[in-house]
Amino acid sequence: PGTTPTVPVTASGSGRFGGVLEQIGSEVAALTDRGRPADYIPLLAGADPGRFGMAVAEPDGTVYGVNDWQEPFSTQSITKVFALALVLASEGEEIWRRVGREPSGNPFNSLVQLEYENGVPRNPFINAGALVVTDRLQTLTGNAAGRVRDLLREESGNPAVDFVAEVADSEAAHGDRNAALAHFMASYGNIANPVPELLAAYFRQCSIAASCQDLASAAGFLARRGVRADGSMLLTPSQAKRVNAVMLTCGTYDAAGEFAYRVGLPGKSGVGGGIVAVVPGVCTLCVWSPGLDRRGNSVAGVWALDRFTTLTGLSVF
Ligand code: DON
Repeated sequence: PGTTPTVPVTASGSGRFGGVLEQIGSEVAALTDRGRPADYIPLLAGADPGRFGMAVAEPDGTVYGVNDWQEPFSTQSITKVFALALVLASEGEEIWRRVGREPSGNPFNSLVQLEYENGVPRNPFINAGALVVTDRLQTLTGNAAGRVRDLLREESGNPAVDFVAEVADSEAAHGDRNAALAHFMASYGNIANPVPELLAAYFRQCSIAASCQDLASAAGFLARRGVRADGSMLLTPSQAKRVNAVMLTCGTYDAAGEFAYRVGLPGKSGVGGGIVAVVPGVCTLCVWSPGLDRRGNSVAGVWALDRFTTLTGLSVF
């Protein structure tokens, strides 16, 4: 990510929100403070905060965007939504015995709550909870990361969506915090697979590169009440509602309150600078810009989603 050439601004306007996207895509140039790329994974640290892309996918599959919307970037924690969807699709509500669904109010990689709460993480979108979900998906499929990648490929229609080995290796080389979380939960019996195997699957899952176009399309089932791109059902309408609800309350970590206040949509961020957001029944959005705020959310990404809901009047409220 970050090394392929910039795709020129694509004339949008082909869909309902094309004009709004063009406006946001030109206004973003005036945004001066864009935060800093994540530096705890050395390979992400070099990303250019000047990059910005935004895409909208409508429920019929129409997808369009502005600026760097077709540029692949490191999806990171955005994959946690897709892993959770696969586990829910496979065995329904079982997973909630092992992970909660309350906001944590703590940073995404925090250890502190886990001991008070007996090794059961607050929600599936902080790292501890995502490790539990990937652990379950690994048990169910034997190939958790591969299943997440395949779901992204199938729903985006882009077979080029793939792992980036250098990103997974870079994270593994600096993975002490995630290893500590996994071992700690294993000591409570809340991890079924060998921790090294789980960490390898989790880092591979986080390393998947995809573009705003890919991710807006791939999340379409969340705007279609669980229905996949091919018309089959991934989640029940109730499960899709629940994934959206957990995204709203927990998808941007200890900034979820601020994100709901400003944007008013379910959203899931990743430290690569991407954010996926859902307007149920209307569209899915993905924004990308690598500069992050201190809570790990893309500065220009949150700004752009804020502009989108302000300009369109759309939100879940
Ligand atoms: O577990 C980690 O540290 C990363 N691979 C994923 C974290 C992430 O994207 C959290 N996000 N904002």
